[in-house]
Amino acid sequence: MKKKQEHLQKSLLGKLNIGDIVVLLGDLGAGKTKFVEGFLEYFNLQNEISSPTFNIVNEYRNESIAIFHFDVYRLSGSEEFYEIGGDEFFSQGISLIEWGNIIDSALPKEKITIKFEQLSSNINKRVLNIEATGKKYEEILRSLEV
Ligand SMILES: Nc1ncnc2c1ncn2[C@@H]1O[C@H](COP(=O)(O)OP(=O)(O)OP(=O)(O)O)[C@@H](O)[C@H]1O
Ligand SMILES: [Mg+2]
Repeated sequence: MKKKQEHLQKSLLGKLNIGDIVVLLGDLGAGKTKFVEGFLEYFNLQNEISSPTFNIVNEYRNESIAIFHFDVYRLSGSEEFYEIGGDEFFSQGISLIEWGNIIDSALPKEKITIKFEQLSSNINKRVLNIEATGKKYEEILRSLEV
């Protein structure tokens, strides 16, 4: 994990609040989970609470906020996501969602989307493309020191 990504994780964590959504896209092995792990390193974690929701979501808490790490790869789509009550987490904390494209219609329109790409020229490098939808997230993106 290189300095630039560490800086982004730290900087982004500092700007996010309860209700915020970050979607992580990219091929298998592109680096989505690794990004979340780094993100959680900067989060003053009290305990990991394993989820009753079929391993679709893991919950992390500190004294002030919760982070929900979703991996919806195994879901068939938004309907299944609603069935397990996935959307009920959104208002309870910060949500980081791997493979969020699978449940796109169940996601709020306004969010940050990070696309991960593995370079064929160097397997140890990742290219991150960050997009923001909505005024609040556009401002967050502009204010990131990356
Ligand atoms: N920024 C990075 N630099 C170098 N190696 C990385 C980086 N991010 C991830 N990797 C390596 O790539 C492998 C796959 O990463 P990761 O599990 O994060 O992928 P993923 O996008 O979550 O895949 P999946 O879609 O299967 O969940 C891991 O071995 C990890 O160490
Ligand atoms: Mg993953």
